[in-house]
Amino acid sequence: MSNIKRIGILTGGGDCPGLNAVIRGIGKTAIHQFGLEVMGVRDGFAGLIEDRVEPLDFARLSGILTRGGTILGTNNRSNPTHYCESRDDEGNLVYVNAVDRCAATIERHGIDILFVVGGDGTFTCAESLVDCGVPCVGVPKTIDNDIYGTDLTVGYASAARIGTMALDRLHSTADSHHRVMVCELMGRNAGWLTLACGLASGSDVILIPEIPFDMDVLCRFVEERRDGAAGFSIVACAEGARPIDGTQVIDRVDETSPDPIRLGGIGRQVANAIEQRTGIETRTTVLGHVQRGGEPASSDRVLAMTFATRAVALAMEGGVNQMVVLRDGHVATQQIADAANRQRLVPPENGFLRAARAVRTCFGDEA
Ligand code: F6P
Repeated sequence: MSNIKRIGILTGGGDCPGLNAVIRGIGKTAIHQFGLEVMGVRDGFAGLIEDRVEPLDFARLSGILTRGGTILGTNNRSNPTHYCESRDDEGNLVYVNAVDRCAATIERHGIDILFVVGGDGTFTCAESLVDCGVPCVGVPKTIDNDIYGTDLTVGYASAARIGTMALDRLHSTADSHHRVMVCELMGRNAGWLTLACGLASGSDVILIPEIPFDMDVLCRFVEERRDGAAGFSIVACAEGARPIDGTQVIDRVDETSPDPIRLGGIGRQVANAIEQRTGIETRTTVLGHVQRGGEPASSDRVLAMTFATRAVALAMEGGVNQMVVLRDGHVATQQIADAANRQRLVPPENGFLRAARAVRTCFGDEA
């Protein structure tokens, strides 16, 4: 018999389609199946630090399944152990440890267990609460699909659908103009999103962080296609991709974020290099945050519901400081600590990679 009477839900990190489906699934299961009270924490860990907490009843949790984003708001800049809320007289950012403030908010609102819906940054932050005695249960989400221990994360399928649709549309214009079209996709240091979109759209070239590319190989490949029957090329380029003799391209550094590096710009660099070296007219499209918007794909809604209901059951069974994951098609659990501070990258022997290589997709390497 569980002592849990009231739960809290927090969404952290970048938003993605399917977060509301998770909130609804956790909240409605908690109320309907276990008779619990549900509180929503606003704007990720900032809401705990600044005590922005609101009740979530059945009515508030209704009609949100299909909505993108998160009704709670989110934040990828509020690390409780390194929280920035002011500047000193010289204008320098001042950081404080706000873990105790989070714990005080949890206690003030009588929250017995906190559901954290997030990625590796969120789980790293949750670890600091766990260390301070706040029981947590995790649900993995991110369009990057890079959370250690789970084959799938909420948001990935929806973002892959958007990226695939964009690449499909670039095909017809590339074909008409006999151009190279480079499309930069998100994903941080992992190539999962670009690989799925590239494979699904039949992109001719796929560049991912896990396989540094050789510009000579890439140029030879698009020249061959220009001279062959196709006459055009589509390049799906991950924001984290890099040439063999270069580094990732950083768009900005946000010191207030637990993950301060924001990647961006490699797509334009690749396009410029292709045009200069081959003379083929080349254009760049950067999908950016478009990939995080809009309604969740049906598979994300199903995954969200599966994770959410299992997460509540896990909490009621006493499974604190654990998170739900998907492995080989089955929901399993692992410690939240297992997913903190690490990322799941595309391994060299991945099936998607094999499938793409089998149809002569170029990864910019000699393989
Ligand atoms: O982790 C999700 C993600 O969309 C990454 O793919 C991307 O690199 C990053 O977040 C962008 O962060 P921000 O919303 O702070 O620009």
